[in-house]
Amino acid sequence: MTEQLTIAMPKGRIFEEAAELLRTAGYTLPPEFDDSRKLIIDVAEENFRFILSKPMDVATYVEHGVADLGIAGKDVLLEEERDVYELLDLKISPCYLAVAGLPGTKMNDVAPKVATKYPKVAEAFFREQGEQVEIIKLNGSIELAPLIGLSDRIVDIVSTGRTLKENGLVEFETITPITSRLIVNPVSYRMKDERISAMVNALSKVI
Ligand code: PRP
Repeated sequence: MTEQLTIAMPKGRIFEEAAELLRTAGYTLPPEFDDSRKLIIDVAEENFRFILSKPMDVATYVEHGVADLGIAGKDVLLEEERDVYELLDLKISPCYLAVAGLPGTKMNDVAPKVATKYPKVAEAFFREQGEQVEIIKLNGSIELAPLIGLSDRIVDIVSTGRTLKENGLVEFETITPITSRLIVNPVSYRMKDERISAMVNALSKVI
């Protein structure tokens, strides 16, 4: 019997693409896998245990070793700075982080405000530009902030650009492109080296 691999995956949009990629790489995942509400799913055929979490929490599970592997967006990895290794760029869920706001507006000269789900990334970006900003941490619907006068700018994910467009916002700067990555706990990487390497090889072939 092969040793069990525990894999943390985000619920939501990355999940479907990641499941598809694992199937293409030759792993058997049962059909009910896709629309389950369970938070722990055991796949006996492959001796996998999946932990389904919020995107921002995937790297936390992996860092603490309760998951050997994880699939997480580069946005989350940049923000969370967890002690994990990044093994593979899965090239799924491509998008980018950008600065956006209302068209024709300038940032306030005194204490400009930036709303975001990514306070560390946003702070570092504006610091590098030599701008001191006040970061306002939100947990979602970031595009609301400039519309209701909460902030001058937002730092957020842009995928199709529809959310910005439909809310009358424009992009001012691109920060960095984002895709999902396969991450590993450093101890698991040593202890379960054979299984993990086999997965990296199988996934590499189909990316
Ligand atoms: C993300 C992101 C943007 C939107 C971008 O939000 O924060 O709001 O997707 O996608 P688009 O460019 O294709 O319109 P998400 O749906 O994850 O919800 P959130 O409001 O909870 O962040």
